[in-house]
Amino acid sequence: MIFKYTNIFSMVVAILATTHLLSSNLEFVKFYFEEYRAVSFFPTSIIANQYISQLNRRHHHHEKKANKVDICDDFPRDSVPLDTNTTTTFCVDRNGCCNFTTIQSAVDATIYINLKRTLIWINNGIYFEKVIIPKTKPNITFQGQGYTTTAIVWNDTANSSHGTFYSASVQVFATNFVAKNISFMNVAPIPKPGDVGAQAVAIRVNGDQASFWGCGFFGAQDTLHDDRGRHYFKECYIQGSIDFIFGNAKSLYEDCQLISMAPPVPMGQKNINGAVTAHGRASADEDSGFAFVRCNLGGTGRIWLGRAWRPFSKVVFAYTIMSDIVSPEGWNDFNDPTRDQSIFYGEYMCMGGGANTSMRVPYAQKLNDTQASLFLNASSFIDGDQWLML
Ligand SMILES: *[C@@H]1O[C@H](CO)[C@@H](O)[C@H](O)[C@H]1NC(C)=O
Ligand SMILES: *[C@@H]1O[C@H](CO)[C@@H](O)[C@H](O)[C@H]1NC(C)=O
Ligand SMILES: *[C@@H]1O[C@H](CO)[C@@H](O)[C@H](O)[C@H]1NC(C)=O
Ligand SMILES: *[C@@H]1O[C@H](CO)[C@@H](O)[C@H](O)[C@H]1NC(C)=O
Ligand SMILES: *[C@@H]1O[C@H](CO)[C@@H](O)[C@H](O)[C@H]1NC(C)=O
Ligand SMILES: *[C@@H]1O[C@H](CO)[C@@H](O)[C@H](O)[C@H]1NC(C)=O
Ligand SMILES: *[C@@H]1O[C@H](CO)[C@@H](O)[C@H](O)[C@H]1NC(C)=O
Ligand SMILES: *[C@@H]1O[C@H](CO)[C@@H](O)[C@H](O)[C@H]1NC(C)=O
Ligand SMILES: *[C@@H]1O[C@H](CO)[C@@H](O)[C@H](O)[C@H]1NC(C)=O
Repeated sequence: MIFKYTNIFSMVVAILATTHLLSSNLEFVKFYFEEYRAVSFFPTSIIANQYISQLNRRHHHHEKKANKVDICDDFPRDSVPLDTNTTTTFCVDRNGCCNFTTIQSAVDATIYINLKRTLIWINNGIYFEKVIIPKTKPNITFQGQGYTTTAIVWNDTANSSHGTFYSASVQVFATNFVAKNISFMNVAPIPKPGDVGAQAVAIRVNGDQASFWGCGFFGAQDTLHDDRGRHYFKECYIQGSIDFIFGNAKSLYEDCQLISMAPPVPMGQKNINGAVTAHGRASADEDSGFAFVRCNLGGTGRIWLGRAWRPFSKVVFAYTIMSDIVSPEGWNDFNDPTRDQSIFYGEYMCMGGGANTSMRVPYAQKLNDTQASLFLNASSFIDGDQWLML
């Protein structure tokens, strides 16, 4: 399997080389962010503006024939952490002001000495690259400078990458991955109704024991492929349209913003055009599920909280504020009523216009305190006391 991914990566590199994308990526990013800005929320534009001004400044420097020292004058050298007994720091900066100019080259350079964690410190900017962290590279941390100023961006789709699973801008197969204050984006064109093969994943998280702190996830259909393993998301911003958090992982999302960008549904129309989750639990034996605690759900469209991608799909929302974009029925069984007995969809102490459970589908459950307690914290739900570094 690893070989397959490596080939796809080489292919992308080859495509890059032949299309001169690297030299023209300002136009490229401008184009996609222009398109994005129309439907998206402010953080994307902030990143775009920051990036564009950074490139303009660089261009300006270039005109004045300024040397590399000028570009690096602003480089925050003192912010880059020093190596410690337990961590080795690799620094990434687009302008070449420290160890690496691409994130992938830093990942490739990691080796394990004395079981240290590798802290990949990433300076502000948009890193236009497809990143793969293979199984052989556990214990890597990506530390960005803020999810509105540091981002990894690519634009593969299901069509361009042999299927949705391979379309992610960042793919994590290793265990113990940590990301802080950075965004993961897929800027492929937003699918139009009826489009086939336009799914575009921002990140695929396939390794066990991964955690994300203050991160952003930007895409449309299938933004966050929460594939497998135990994962923790704290204070993250997650944007998408259809099934924008999907997969078969066991994950706790705490204090996150869940933003639907499905098209607004005109007054009087009843159609539903988005879904937050598509959890993929296939059998009763699988220990997986998504729990959302103290999140905030808003945005546009009319959406379901979840669709039963597989028969034993399991999702809980607790203490979450839901705007009225949530359709009163709440959940969907993928139009397969035989799934209604095996689905586990629960709500507990939610608030807001979308949280009224009186019209919910019959298989949706209002959890009692005992049932809910399992889902409410990292220790009880994902064994966080054993691996989560708070
Ligand atoms: C880390 O290194 C310092 C100095 O070399 C040493 O004093 C300290 O005990 C080490 N800490 C651990 C946890 O090994
Ligand atoms: C990264 O840069 C620092 C500071 O220049 C240097 O000490 C360190 O050895 C470099 N690390 C690598 C992996 O190149
Ligand atoms: C990764 O970190 C964990 C926890 O600190 C440690 O038990 C494990 O041995 C490390 N693995 C590697 C390959 O460094
Ligand atoms: C990604 O963007 C580049 C540059 O605009 C374009 O040539 C390529 O077709 C895009 N890929 C996909 C899958 O849309
Ligand atoms: C993330 O950025 C915020 C704001 O800049 C800062 O307060 C916070 O400490 C950072 N968190 C991490 C985990 O880097
Ligand atoms: C994906 O590929 C199929 C088959 O080639 C094609 O019909 C479809 O239009 C493509 N989708 C997009 C979004 O380009
Ligand atoms: C919930 O919805 C039902 C049916 O529309 C309505 O009668 C009830 O007043 C609502 N409850 C709240 C708290 O808004
Ligand atoms: C909570 O619900 C479960 C499952 O329906 C039930 O077995 C249990 O007795 C309930 N607990 C309380 C405290 O109501
Ligand atoms: C997490 O939940 C478990 C089981 O409900 C409980 O015993 C524990 O005190 C909780 N921990 C925190 C930090 O809330």
